[in-house]
Amino acid sequence: MKPIVLLKRVIFAAALIPAGTLVVDAFRGKLTANPIDFITDTTGVWAIRLLITTLSITPLRRLTGWNPIIQLRRMLGLFAFFYATLHFLTWSVLDWFFDVRSMGEDVVKRPFITLGMATFLMLLSLAVTSTKASVRKLGKKWTQLHRLIYAASITALTHFWLVGKVTVTEVMYWAVVLTALLGFRVWWVVRHA
Ligand code: HEM
Repeated sequence: MKPIVLLKRVIFAAALIPAGTLVVDAFRGKLTANPIDFITDTTGVWAIRLLITTLSITPLRRLTGWNPIIQLRRMLGLFAFFYATLHFLTWSVLDWFFDVRSMGEDVVKRPFITLGMATFLMLLSLAVTSTKASVRKLGKKWTQLHRLIYAASITALTHFWLVGKVTVTEVMYWAVVLTALLGFRVWWVVRHA
């Protein structure tokens, strides 16, 4: 088996662990005293971790010259979207029971929810156009559209920061990683201009 195929399988299985753990903990009644909060936080954190990991693939490929690693990018991005969808569903179903009017009010009233929703919609547009058919059909526009991942990562991190529950150190950690990953891209473009 090629190393990339093995790595893909390992990452696929590993990325399912947080969701699987949530399901097991739910059955065992171990979702803490505030299950909705716990599920929201867990799915949100995994969405952002996987989103930033997705952004690390291109720099890793350029630095190592190992081209097959690019095959991980779509899978990681879709897993980020998977956790963002669980996060969104927790809010819309468990918090609001699909009360669209109250959800709309929440989006307008609380800036961190506005940013979360904007991030989710960007990730949704990336996920639906992530197929090979879309790449072929959209051509150059596909590359332009998929640059939305940079905006989505910034709005996701701002949303995370505005939640205000985490320590500044944790948000700073992700901000430094994201700045390095975006900075690498700028450096690369300038170097090859
Ligand atoms: C539909 C859009 C979204 C809504 C309505 C939403 C809503 C929420 C809510 C209600 C919380 C918990 C606030 C609290 O506990 O006081 C939260 C936390 C969080 N969300 Fe979102 N969110 C959305 C999209 C996203 C996306 C797309 C990401 C990441 C890519 C994300 C990442 C996070 C993170 C990291 C946290 C903090 C978790 C923690 O406290 O440890 N959210 N979000």
